[in-house]
Amino acid sequence: MANYQKWAGNRQSLWKGACDMTNLKVGVIGAGWFGDIHCSAIAGVPGLELVALADRDGARLKEIGGQYGVAALHEDYRDLLADSAIDIVHIVTRWDSHAEIATAALAAGKHVLLEKPMAPTVAECEQICDAAREAATYLMVGHVCRFNPRCIAARKEIAAGSIGRIVSLNGRRNVPAAWAANALDKVSPVSDTAIHDTDLMQWFSGSNVVSAYTQTVRVNDYVHPDMFQIMYRFENGATAVYESAWLMPDTAPFMIDERMHVIGSEGFVQVQDTFPNLGLCTPTGFTCPDTTYWPMVDGITGGALKDEIMYFAGCVARGERPDVITPEESLAAMRAVLAAEESAKTGEIVKIG
Ligand SMILES: NC(=O)c1ccc[n+]([C@@H]2O[C@H](COP(=O)([O-])OP(=O)(O)OC[C@H]3O[C@@H](n4cnc5c(N)ncnc54)[C@H](O)[C@@H]3O)[C@@H](O)[C@H]2O)c1
Repeated sequence: MANYQKWAGNRQSLWKGACDMTNLKVGVIGAGWFGDIHCSAIAGVPGLELVALADRDGARLKEIGGQYGVAALHEDYRDLLADSAIDIVHIVTRWDSHAEIATAALAAGKHVLLEKPMAPTVAECEQICDAAREAATYLMVGHVCRFNPRCIAARKEIAAGSIGRIVSLNGRRNVPAAWAANALDKVSPVSDTAIHDTDLMQWFSGSNVVSAYTQTVRVNDYVHPDMFQIMYRFENGATAVYESAWLMPDTAPFMIDERMHVIGSEGFVQVQDTFPNLGLCTPTGFTCPDTTYWPMVDGITGGALKDEIMYFAGCVARGERPDVITPEESLAAMRAVLAAEESAKTGEIVKIG
């Protein structure tokens, strides 16, 4: 019961934030696939108003602007940042532009919710951390798994000592082969998918990765391989194995095969998001729609993404620096996945620090 109350207390603080919010104005930079989902989630948060969008693709900008009734549409993100009425900026472009746009947004006095992965190099991640440390406004990287209620519950149990000392973690995030065509020529899957679980592993174990060894398998002909496994060692001696395959066929009933098993000296915790608690069997097949991350309920996007957006906006409204995830923790997770990337290229164990 005590643990449940702690978990529930965390939820209440999200809603308290929402109640404190009075008309915070939000701009979204990057109106692509996930930018659209951000806009939909913002629309469902009381006290938040989506007032501006920026995207260098003019046609996409008009399409998404029309969909959400946004009048201020900018092809140059700097024009959005120049609007002094905007309090919060969501950066939902791909990682190669994150350092430039995030530092410009902080310099313009905006609060910044930055999508993962933070940036493609440790130097750029450090540049973002330095700018965030110096700014009076806040920056949080959107590690949405930290807002998954099952991950929150797992972390609470681990932090309370329920399974003893963490000795081993085993994670998996297998995604549809159909996603690969749009992504694997632009971004390595190691950074794109392993960042979620690497951050969770560091959060769960309370310890940072000190070495990484990665093996890849190339099935289709993209710039980046579509299958990899990582072995991590953590500062506290724990080890981890992680797999991500971008190979699931269209017939898989779920979008993401996502699992995490954490073994402690006195027990274990498992998070199982693969077969969510909604199964739908129709004449065309069996599916498990998302009920965790950004499910659509009555035309509004809810779930962990909405909780993340609401948490960040609540911190802004209350004047409290977000501490569910700090920029330095995002940097630590990027150091680990970039070491895993390097290991994939060299075939050697890569040590950090
Ligand atoms: N948290 C999650 O689970 C999750 C899920 C999906 C995507 N993401 C992240 O969201 C980000 C966007 O992913 P996506 O799938 O929407 O990508 P996308 O390619 O569909 O969209 C990116 C958009 O940004 C625009 N853009 C790029 N650079 C720009 C610039 N300098 N100025 C203005 N517009 C610019 C592009 O025109 C495009 O419309 C990525 O970092 C991705 O990793 C996170």
